[in-house]
Amino acid sequence: MIDIHCHLLPGIDDGARHLDVSLEMARIAAAEGVTTIACTPHIQPGVFDNEAAGIREAVQDLQEAIDEAGIAVTLVVGSDAHIRPDFVSAIRAGEIATLNDTKFVLFEPPHHIAPQRMDDLLFDILAAGYVPIVTHPERLTWISSHYELFVRLSRSGVWMQITAGSLTGSFGRGPKMWAERMLIDGVVHVIATDAHGAKRRPPLMHDAIRSAERLVGPQETRNLVSIRPRAILLNSDEFTPPKAPCETSQPPKAKRGAFWPMQDILNRTAR
Ligand SMILES: [Fe+2]
Repeated sequence: MIDIHCHLLPGIDDGARHLDVSLEMARIAAAEGVTTIACTPHIQPGVFDNEAAGIREAVQDLQEAIDEAGIAVTLVVGSDAHIRPDFVSAIRAGEIATLNDTKFVLFEPPHHIAPQRMDDLLFDILAAGYVPIVTHPERLTWISSHYELFVRLSRSGVWMQITAGSLTGSFGRGPKMWAERMLIDGVVHVIATDAHGAKRRPPLMHDAIRSAERLVGPQETRNLVSIRPRAILLNSDEFTPPKAPCETSQPPKAKRGAFWPMQDILNRTAR
């Protein structure tokens, strides 16, 4: 398996705090069957001022430590880039790191506010030759009122990544419900851990895979955790689109006072 979203690099965002945590996370991931991890620290100007060159250096250092520790995991470069109006120029300027230096790039929307014209920005990124992968739409507090936007984006070339922990209920009932619904509707391209630690939000995949298999079957689940992530890291256009969707159902209505609406790929490539 390949994990394309993991806050594994030590001390540069709200993920792993120290090298020991990074190594423990890598051990956990390896035990789960993950062979390659994209290191994707937050990039958010003024909050997490990471940029591609620094991430690249940190990935090299951590890979050396992982190799010394005898953990069979290969790292590649990436970032969890928060929405910004200059997203394309930030990629071109070497501020935002794409996944393994491919055209695929993680795109993180705001958690609590639906941004104006996010679809225009995503289409601008597509028009510039990149493929934005929207991170954890199922965990956004505003998905209930904008579900059709995510369906339309997914049908238009924007990729969707849901969180493994959402499928197992680690983020509550709402994200679990939306993650399941997105899978059933055939709008999800990838499942990733978005892990932030070894104890808090660890890089677990196994139980989520069992859940996904029950919803979309074993072949589509392989597409979600291995085949499409591999295509991403190889910068390939050869991938199977998400499972043919069922008829999209009407979004559930929010209930007053309710929580939400019932809501190896590669040879060593780190540089
Ligand atoms: Fe993340």
